[in-house]
Amino acid sequence: MARILAIESSCDETAASVISDGQLLSNIVSTQIDVHRKYGGVMPEIASRLHAENISIVIKEAMETAKLSFEDLDAVAVTRGPGLIGALHVGLQAAKTIAMLYKIPLIPVHHLAGHIYANEYVSTFKFPMLAVVVSGGNTELVLMKDHLDFEILAKTRDDAIGECYDKVARVLGLPYPGGIPIDKLAKVGKHSYDLPIPLRGEKTLDLSYSGLKTNVINLVHNLEQKGEKVNVEDMCKSFQDVAVGLVIDRTIKVVKEHKVNQVILAGGVSANSYLREQMTVEMNKLGVEINIPPMWCCTDNAAMIAKVAERLYDLKVFAPLDISVDPNWEIDEWNKF
Ligand code: KG4
Repeated sequence: MARILAIESSCDETAASVISDGQLLSNIVSTQIDVHRKYGGVMPEIASRLHAENISIVIKEAMETAKLSFEDLDAVAVTRGPGLIGALHVGLQAAKTIAMLYKIPLIPVHHLAGHIYANEYVSTFKFPMLAVVVSGGNTELVLMKDHLDFEILAKTRDDAIGECYDKVARVLGLPYPGGIPIDKLAKVGKHSYDLPIPLRGEKTLDLSYSGLKTNVINLVHNLEQKGEKVNVEDMCKSFQDVAVGLVIDRTIKVVKEHKVNQVILAGGVSANSYLREQMTVEMNKLGVEINIPPMWCCTDNAAMIAKVAERLYDLKVFAPLDISVDPNWEIDEWNKF
């Protein structure tokens, strides 16, 4: 165990956190959501610029809240990928500078491993475990037979589920990030629009969201061209049933195929109330324990990076100072950099 400063800057949150012997001493998050909302989605160049503006302040606040000085640190950890290339670079450069100045190891952390390990703040993993990773940039089912042993059993062939929520929200005139208003409006809507289920009839565990997104966009445009009003609540409900239904369907299949003791949700979309509800119902039917992360660790933060970093510190997974980011880093390659 050690004192570690963790940094996260993979998308639109600049975050820093300090952990000491398993105890979280600080967790500072500066979100850029209000800026990106104007554009209906994350603008990569603006994200990088805002990270550059905020990173030092966020790190300083994390250290002050933890009541530690940089000399007290045993290591500095940082998200190396996946994520937006320019955004990742800002966090990595900050971490490298601290590692170099204070002569401490640099720990490269996989962003999705972070989302998975965020659950460790509230539950104990029981292997074999299935992590259902649903976020703005990724959608995958990851089997873990032990700590840091990640096997990707299924993933999206194209868009991530969160990205699909955001694009559907945009065409419906709802604000970014789209998952939140869609989740809310779906509660009062009816499933009245017929949207095709992705990859239906195919013998695959893969997921796919780009067709569903296009279907909603075309349907909305067709209705508008005919001068008909789109019932936004009903569209949200119809869309959400299909989007979440696909994740649930794949999870049930994997749980039945592999002897899974526990299912955990991870990533931004795990904040979705319908997913949380339905997954609980279905896993209860199968007699499998389900763990749902508290809201605070669904969105990006550095506490989750710190949690993984502790394990990597014990294993001495340290990176040289010439390491670069990897926007497409796969979780099963977490120790290859
Ligand atoms: O994990 P995250 O911050 O993104 C990545 O790290 O990639 O998740 C952000 C995503 C956004 O697409 C947002 O629309 C979605 O999570 N999201 C939701 C909900 N809250 C956030 N999606 C569905 N339902 C929600 N309640």
